[in-house]
Amino acid sequence: MSEITIALSKGRLAENAVELFEKCGIKCKNILQPTRKLVLFDDDKRYRFIFVKPSDVPTYVEHGVADIGVCGSDTLNEEDKNIYEMLDLKFGACRLCLAGKENGLNKPVSKTLIVATKYINTAKKLFQEREINVELIKLNGSVELGPIVGLSDIILDIVESGKTLKENNLHILEEICPVSARLVVNKVSLKTKAEQIKPFVKLVAENIQ
Ligand code: PRP
Repeated sequence: MSEITIALSKGRLAENAVELFEKCGIKCKNILQPTRKLVLFDDDKRYRFIFVKPSDVPTYVEHGVADIGVCGSDTLNEEDKNIYEMLDLKFGACRLCLAGKENGLNKPVSKTLIVATKYINTAKKLFQEREINVELIKLNGSVELGPIVGLSDIILDIVESGKTLKENNLHILEEICPVSARLVVNKVSLKTKAEQIKPFVKLVAENIQ
């Protein structure tokens, strides 16, 4: 049987994914050991795990170098890749929100609202649907700084505990949608490795909490 490659991103999503895979009988705790290695295997060498940046998980899966991936629904919506979304894994739950200072949205209609975000495509779609003219500024992290230093009026970002907003005196202005981790699969792999991938997906589905 050929090996299955799973793309994960370091951090909490990988920890939750490993916990779930262990429940499925895949002995892969070892891949969470601190290491700079980017390719790791489960104890039985049936699965190969590659560690990539969260926003790159859909790319690796679309290109088929990973058969399976775990990433947030926020990333999936933003990247819009040609892959199958198979399961809502339920962990990694947070909310995609518009946030800023309390008066962040109170701008004269004649002025363009400036929005900082990691989610440029998602933001473009959101404001186009609402027929609101905005200027979007792409940031790659610490997005909350935008309204604090005056780079933007508001942000579109994920809120998990709300701590980052609170500690920076910012507020949720609107909740856009819930976010959680998803199991994604390459379209060709699902056909060519059906005998391995289908039972794997079924097993994972049975162990989601
Ligand atoms: C995410 C997100 C917020 C923060 C929200 O950032 O962009 O900044 O977490 O979490 P909280 O509501 O629990 O405070 P991340 O930690 O991924 O780092 P980043 O700013 O480098 O993107």
